[in-house]
Amino acid sequence: MSLIGRPPLEMDMERTFVMLKPSCVERRIMGEVIARFERKGFNIVSMKLIKMSRQQAEELYSAHRGKHFYDGLVAAVTGKPVLVLVLEGRGAVEVVRRMIGATDPIKAEPGTIRGDYGSDITDNIVHASDSKESYEREYRLFFSDQELVS
Ligand code: PPS
Repeated sequence: MSLIGRPPLEMDMERTFVMLKPSCVERRIMGEVIARFERKGFNIVSMKLIKMSRQQAEELYSAHRGKHFYDGLVAAVTGKPVLVLVLEGRGAVEVVRRMIGATDPIKAEPGTIRGDYGSDITDNIVHASDSKESYEREYRLFFSDQELVS
């Protein structure tokens, strides 16, 4: 994957991809969730409200292809409004994953986003990249490099 032509990030800075899932949009809690990331000190580098195509959803979740929940997961995010964001800050990938909490909101600690707002394991409020490699693959499904605002 070529990084040629992309300006380097400042030292220590890292980016991660986040998606606010359909229930987050429908319940009008996007602002509360975004505020948590902003208060922590992350910059919003890009953000847009979209309806994800089936192809984008299948690609986003390609690591789970073949698992029993894959079809339901793809269907849950296809064709419904979701907010996709790129966040930037120190340790963004790991810190955002810690802030959102365990995959299953019932097991997520109180104080985490899923722990405070979620109950459904599929529409668990928010998705975030689980590694730098996942970020590099995921953000490109929704953003061009020109859309990332430093
Ligand atoms: S796992 O267990 O490592 O596959 O879980 P994870 O990588 O955190 O994310 C799994 C995504 O699939 C959705 N999903 C489920 N996960 C686990 N078990 C069940 N039954 C299940 N059903 C759906 C879950 O919402 C995760 O989506 P994202 O968007 O990544 O949070």
